[in-house]
Amino acid sequence: MIRLDRLLVNMKFGSRKEVQDLIKSGAVLVDGKVELKKDRKLNPALNKVVVFDEELYYQDEIILAINKPIGYLSANVDAFHSVVVDLIGAPYHRIDFKIAGRLDLDSEGLLILTTSGKTVHDITNPNKKIIKTYDVTTEEIIDEEMLLRLLEPIRILDGNSEPYLTKALNISKTSENTALISLDEGKFHQVKRMFRAIGYEVISLKRIQIGKYHLGNLEPGEYVEIKKDDIL
Ligand code: URA
Repeated sequence: MIRLDRLLVNMKFGSRKEVQDLIKSGAVLVDGKVELKKDRKLNPALNKVVVFDEELYYQDEIILAINKPIGYLSANVDAFHSVVVDLIGAPYHRIDFKIAGRLDLDSEGLLILTTSGKTVHDITNPNKKIIKTYDVTTEEIIDEEMLLRLLEPIRILDGNSEPYLTKALNISKTSENTALISLDEGKFHQVKRMFRAIGYEVISLKRIQIGKYHLGNLEPGEYVEIKKDDIL
């Protein structure tokens, strides 16, 4: 249960004072009736709340799969770049999403947004060994034998520029200069650094799968609501 004024603050209708004024003005309906009490306790998963004709969308957990376009930061706010959360429209626009794992500014593909910190942990904690698959394009023509070296431990630098031993779980060449690579960890620039370690420069990188969930035909900027079971 949550107080009506707290819910409306959480849903970005304004400050505590502003939402209390909103409630007093009669703009808020709970289950079809005007609710004037700011401390009305309700269960947003069960009670229907309408503010100025807008019905609030609420689930105990909301998970979105989005195809992050190139040029968007995997973040909620940034002073300089567009952020992935800017792409989210109604009825999800009032929800504070956490981002489960990052993609570089110049990478695209599958990103999971969720309201649950536990889900972020379950997807990103290295101990959970959630497999992520990337579609990679390199500047150079790929030699298959060279590519297979990524299945053996190889040294890269991690996000703190410390040496780090890693290997791919799966790798396959898909054309002259493209490959699919699967990893169960997610160090900073990991795919680019692994390819660089065997002499290839990654010129395009797209994440196509996280756990069981495949990007499918989501276009850049498109998103869809999914369940945790779809991923884990
Ligand atoms: N590895 C990278 O190098 N970049 C990404 O965005 C994701 C994985």
